Amino acid sequence: MASSMEKVVNLCSRRGFVLASADAYGQLAGFFEYAGYGAHLKRNVEHSWWDCFVKHREDVVGVDGALLLPRAVWKASGHLDAFNDPLVSCVKCRSRFRADHLVEEELKISVEGLPMEKLGELIKEHKLRCPKCKGELGEAKPFNLMFKTYAGAVADEASEIYLRPETAQNIFTDYKTVSLASRKQVPFGIAQLGRAFRNEIAPRNFLFRVREFTQMEVEYFVHPDKLNECTLPESLLSVEIAVLTAEAQEKKSEAAIISFADMIDKKIIGTKWHAYWLAECVSWLQSIGLKNKSMRLRQHVSGELSHYSRETWDVEFNYGEWGWKELLGVANRGDYDVTQHAKASGKDMSLFDEASKQKFVPVVIEPSGGIDRVFLALLVDAFEEKPDKEGVRNVLHLHPEIAPVTVAVFPLMKKDGLAEKGRAVFEELRKHFACEYDESGSIGRRYARQDEVGTPYCVTVDYDTLTDGTVTVRDRDSGKQVRFPIEQVEQLIRNSMREFTNV
Ligand code: GAP
Repeated sequence: MASSMEKVVNLCSRRGFVLASADAYGQLAGFFEYAGYGAHLKRNVEHSWWDCFVKHREDVVGVDGALLLPRAVWKASGHLDAFNDPLVSCVKCRSRFRADHLVEEELKISVEGLPMEKLGELIKEHKLRCPKCKGELGEAKPFNLMFKTYAGAVADEASEIYLRPETAQNIFTDYKTVSLASRKQVPFGIAQLGRAFRNEIAPRNFLFRVREFTQMEVEYFVHPDKLNECTLPESLLSVEIAVLTAEAQEKKSEAAIISFADMIDKKIIGTKWHAYWLAECVSWLQSIGLKNKSMRLRQHVSGELSHYSRETWDVEFNYGEWGWKELLGVANRGDYDVTQHAKASGKDMSLFDEASKQKFVPVVIEPSGGIDRVFLALLVDAFEEKPDKEGVRNVLHLHPEIAPVTVAVFPLMKKDGLAEKGRAVFEELRKHFACEYDESGSIGRRYARQDEVGTPYCVTVDYDTLTDGTVTVRDRDSGKQVRFPIEQVEQLIRNSMREFTNV
């Protein structure tokens, strides 16, 4: 019996949402292509993020930077030296594994935050062998995750360039120029949505851990003395969610449901700006339809923090059989990146405070997420198998704002002028919504096809339409069908989209 994750992966492949990249040549692990409904869904999520975090804000500017950056940038950012995963190789068959994954799988323990030497010790202590050939395993070693190439015809250190493993670094190198050009003063943010690349040792779990993915990041620059000068609106303070602190993880306690107001009052989170951005991320995820009960916040334990981070909180999603896993993270990067780039480039990257007439280096709060993980979480959260007369039917309860198709139009039959009327209704509705026309097969089959790709509304044109100008509008989730005059359908769908909730 297939698990629900397998069913979602199967649906993605059968309905063409996601394809293995270059499949005709045998898939290269960790690369995928989004197509058809999948490309629409991904684009809708990206637009929603950009609208919420950039377009509708006064204090955030968008950028769209280069994918390849020179060696000097990655040396300064610390990625050349520290952006590593622990690698262990089999002495006999030469297979390579991520040491932390291997230990977790073999010993069924969490090794979150354990340093490389400890992983090596665990491998020796428990006499772990190669999962493929049972050969002996070598020492755990750091493996750098960046893809390297060269700019121009000469392949030397000066021409070394790297595909960016995070979109953040273009923002740090450009931040002062962007802030001056856009006349922004702290607190302000610079956002980027674009591709990132990591040469993962073991890409796995479908879209969860891939080698090329889309990141959405905001670097939010704050005066170091003003990290608590932030007023969260009541709509964010009142959001309640499961929270697993670093302390709770050490004590092996469960997550507790806490509001953002309490997280701030009880100093569970370091600063108010950090709480604000975490709350904005949760609120955005809810707005695109993720259920509150499917998410939790988890604080990074000390050994787990990235080389630049003072404090990090992940929003995790319950991926069912894979358990709780990171969806996005919000880090306090301190002044690490700006200071590093100032030192390495020799440029003055500090800002000037008019009030105190002093220079300062801003502190950065960074909400950073991956579209691919959010895409998968949305599908897992929305997927349902509904029993019906013919067995079971798949339904994706996607939020209407992000569903690949908003309305499907069907003529009851192709004859007697119904197809022509159906197309006329379709032509009208497609001016306002992502719309699909379908006249093949029984109405039941057409509903089922749309339910499976998450279409929230289906409009059927029948014989009554020809006489009284009404159509039936079917709601995906309740299955209810209501007759409406054609000219009211657009407004009806708009109202229904606004009222939609599945949190
Ligand atoms: N700038 C900070 C940063 O890059 P990260 O936790 O390494 O932090 C941020 O990555 C987000 O990017 C993650 O929360 C995840 O959603 C996504 N991400 C990272 N590695 C990924 C991978 N190999 N495949 C898919 N998504 C990934």
